[in-house]
Amino acid sequence: MTKKQRARTKLRRRVAGLLALGFALIGVGAGYSVLVPEPQTAQAQDDPAIVREGEKIYNNTCISCHGANLEGVKDRGPSLVGVGEASVYFQTSTGRMPAMGQTSQMPRKPRVLTPAEVDAVAAFIQANGGGVEMPSEHGAELRGEDPARGGELFRFNCASCHNFTGRGGALSSGKEAPALDGVTEDEIYAAMLSGPQNMPRFSERQLSPEEKKDIIAYVKSVTDGNNNPGGSPIGGLGPQSEGFIAFVVGIVALLGVTLWIGAKA
Ligand code: HEC
Ligand code: HEC
Repeated sequence: MTKKQRARTKLRRRVAGLLALGFALIGVGAGYSVLVPEPQTAQAQDDPAIVREGEKIYNNTCISCHGANLEGVKDRGPSLVGVGEASVYFQTSTGRMPAMGQTSQMPRKPRVLTPAEVDAVAAFIQANGGGVEMPSEHGAELRGEDPARGGELFRFNCASCHNFTGRGGALSSGKEAPALDGVTEDEIYAAMLSGPQNMPRFSERQLSPEEKKDIIAYVKSVTDGNNNPGGSPIGGLGPQSEGFIAFVVGIVALLGVTLWIGAKA
């Protein structure tokens, strides 16, 4: 091989390497945008298109038990006038609704509606009677900074039913307060706002938003399996973005090393 040829192979290898890096990054980006949950629109009920979409879902899946005008159907389901976005969010995202039939207590089950459908039907019901709305923060943003205070508040307000560490427990008349493992931050917040079934509702006066968030931080810390869930948010983006950044940095470093080894060979 002449010197010139060798230089050309080297250049070609470098270009190929750079192309591979480019493709890998595009792939990672595309994968990420597919995997990340759709952002939830806080003021969805102001968007007539989303409200109409929610009405369609309601008419298909909820109307038989809750009535054509949300007024409820005797022996089938209660009125939903004024229950608000938080209650709908809680019931549908924990899979309790749409209910399959009458039981003394609707069990948590795999969610039937997609997150977008949950938002739409919540917007529709919110637009027809108002009620308590969800906060604009989501996920890790709903974890307060003081889980120790959250623990005290939990022992005072929740432990009588859910046990000291959220293990759950039996209540009277065959009902139970469920264990809180695997329940998301948004669902815990929605449960406190809406007070499903035998659970009391915790208004802003009873527990301020900061107190609710500290309780969430505590619940997540005792139910996540490890006591340090980690994920100190980068610029408030949460652990998901953190994982993503670590992933990209890792991939780039790996590719860099590969290219370097290739160039040396
Ligand atoms: C098979 C009947 C049935 C269907 C279908 C059904 N529900 Fe329900 N729903 C019920 C019953 C019964 C309750 C009361 C549950 C309880 O007390 O635990 C309820 C309770 C609720 C609540 C709580 C109300 C409150 O007072 O906070 C909401 C919100 C709700 N349903 C929304 C929906 C939505 C949205 C759909 C459609 C996606 C739906 N439901 C479909 C029977 C049904
Ligand atoms: C009087 C008893 C009682 C108290 C006090 C209580 N809960 Fe509950 N909680 C319940 C019951 C009962 C349910 C199940 C509701 C249903 O099946 O619709 C529940 C459900 C939940 C859920 C949903 C769990 C799941 O599996 O989807 C969460 C989260 C929750 N409670 C959090 C709390 C928090 C946080 C507090 C304190 C601020 C609290 N609860 C106080 C009785 C209680």
